[in-house]
Amino acid sequence: MDKILQRTRSLSGRITVPGDKSIAHRAVMLGGISRGRSLVSNFPFSRDCLSTIRCLTSLGVTIDQIDEGVLRIDGQGLRGLKPPRSSLDAGNSGTTLRLLSGLLAGQTFAVTLTGDDSLRRRPMRRIIEPLRSMGAEISGAGGDRFAPLRIRGRRLRPIDYTLPVASAQLKSALLLAGLYADGRTTVRAPVTCRDHTERMLIHRGAELNVSGDVITIQGGGELKALDSVIPGDLSSAAYFLTAAILVPASRLTVEGVGVNPTRTGLLKVLNDMGAGISLSGDRMVGNEPVTDLSIRSVELSAVEVSGSIVPSLVDELPVLAVAATQAQGTTIVRNAAELRVKESDRIAAMADELRKMGARIEETKDGWIIEGSTPLHGAWVNSHGDHRVAMALAVAALVAEGETCIRSAESVEVSFPGFWEMFERIYR
Ligand code: S3P
Repeated sequence: MDKILQRTRSLSGRITVPGDKSIAHRAVMLGGISRGRSLVSNFPFSRDCLSTIRCLTSLGVTIDQIDEGVLRIDGQGLRGLKPPRSSLDAGNSGTTLRLLSGLLAGQTFAVTLTGDDSLRRRPMRRIIEPLRSMGAEISGAGGDRFAPLRIRGRRLRPIDYTLPVASAQLKSALLLAGLYADGRTTVRAPVTCRDHTERMLIHRGAELNVSGDVITIQGGGELKALDSVIPGDLSSAAYFLTAAILVPASRLTVEGVGVNPTRTGLLKVLNDMGAGISLSGDRMVGNEPVTDLSIRSVELSAVEVSGSIVPSLVDELPVLAVAATQAQGTTIVRNAAELRVKESDRIAAMADELRKMGARIEETKDGWIIEGSTPLHGAWVNSHGDHRVAMALAVAALVAEGETCIRSAESVEVSFPGFWEMFERIYR
């Protein structure tokens, strides 16, 4: 599908965005291995989250939608999953595939985990090696580099492991495997990355200790079923917040957004650029902080983004690149090489596509150098089949002179069904 967008005069309104994708995956997986029934509200029925539901259903968990946005999960307990009849397909979802690898490493049966073309090109050795050292029988295609992964669950032994990359997917996979290990598994993160798994495991009664970036989990304990509400996804709100900053005379509030401190790097960086985002009605939803975010349009200045803040805004860097094209000065993003192994090579994709719109953006090995402020013009651009590239380019289109056509615009469904409709609703 192609999406044609025009420059917009202003944006306004109060909106909500779908529930947080990262939290939703975890709610389905942990609900599936808890003992008893869990209800999950504000569940985002995005393509990635549907992949997780399908995988858990194939593993013998009964999952039903019982109301708008409400999922009922009949947990089977830690040892209650059943062997699937065929291979499990995670679609486009790295979180599904990597977290499930950890969960399946300690089962008593064999499975094959696969995904779409993009997911089968993403690095998997980072998962295979530590799970193997816990005793799982696991192998991947291309000399253990890629999915499909073949996993034969085994009795697992605990490990003390330092993550070679600041990846929450890897950390979470090892914590889930740790649930099945005989003893205490320790995972050390070099840099803080999202901690939804830890929060949810604690909430469900796991014996888990967090001390700075060192997490220890005791294997063997049952998880309890729990009703929960998923906060709005800050990674989805990011497109609307950035659009409202860049499009003149805009005012926008996004209600009920998750602001877990391991995810709020974009808010900090935009504020450092001059945005003045205000937070109101701070509250806890389950074990996660939530707030309403309000923003007006403003002139931005350039920043440097590097080091430990990167994991807390890794998914927001494509839209931050768009903001940087409109900021006064030279924005430099470094230490973000992980962007090259996301759903697309996001460093190359954003540089190539924004350049077509007139941006002055140079690709480096682990980020960009972006000169602003540069007027953008409409162009034919490509999402590279990547939801976050599509949505970031949509924001660029709103400030570009003339018409922009985004190819493969349907990719937004991976994380944000209804994105285009909501986008059109806030034009003034
Ligand atoms: C996620 C972790 C991040 C992020 C992804 C979701 C998660 O990936 O980019 O969109 O839910 O744990 P990495 O673990 O590869 O950094």
